[in-house]
Amino acid sequence: MPSPAVANSGALPTGWQLRAMAAADIDAALAIEQQASPDPWRRYAFEQSLAPDGAQLLVDPHGVAVGFLIWRVVADQAELLNIALLPEWRGHGLGRALLTALLEQLPAAVSSLFLEVRASNLAAIGLYAAVGFNQIGERRDYYRRSCEPLAGREDALVMALDLEFG
Ligand SMILES: CC(C)(COP(=O)(O)OP(=O)(O)OC[C@H]1O[C@@H](n2cnc3c(N)ncnc32)[C@H](O)[C@@H]1OP(=O)(O)O)[C@@H](O)C(=O)NCCC(=O)NCCS
Repeated sequence: MPSPAVANSGALPTGWQLRAMAAADIDAALAIEQQASPDPWRRYAFEQSLAPDGAQLLVDPHGVAVGFLIWRVVADQAELLNIALLPEWRGHGLGRALLTALLEQLPAAVSSLFLEVRASNLAAIGLYAAVGFNQIGERRDYYRRSCEPLAGREDALVMALDLEFG
């Protein structure tokens, strides 16, 4: 069972590991994503995200995949493309630890980290605000509300973290 406070300092707890995601990990990532989003990424999105440093899997001390982190870097800007944890591991500081790990490994030339988030996703917005992201815009009707064809659409907030003077 999850411990109530596995991490609250921004560091991964002892024995936990964030490692490069490989093709063999995509099934595990898909299982996490299915429980994380109303309109989950499909397999091809994970396949396209595999890169030496741009897609990482969070594994617990038993080697079980419990989360992932996906981003890309273009010149001096980085974009957080996806982040998710299994439901039972949310609220224990692991999301903050994943973002802290990302910030530590971004190339020094990166001056800003951007992301889009559903306007209704208060947990994710809370996490991003807690690590210093600011809302810089919004995109009307950016997301499908779900994978149902008639589900309608939802706005995205665009958030950015300035790394230049951090
Ligand atoms: C978003 C997500 C990664 C956050 O990870 P987490 O491990 O639960 O977050 P943490 O425990 O590290 O919380 C860090 C901070 O985020 C904020 N936060 C976390 N959960 C929150 C919630 N439910 N409501 C509001 N703020 C919340 C708090 O400020 C918290 O700091 P605190 O514990 O000192 O109050 C996780 O909820 C998740 O996997 N959600 C499903 C996938 C998803 O929505 N991904 C985002 C796509 S844009």
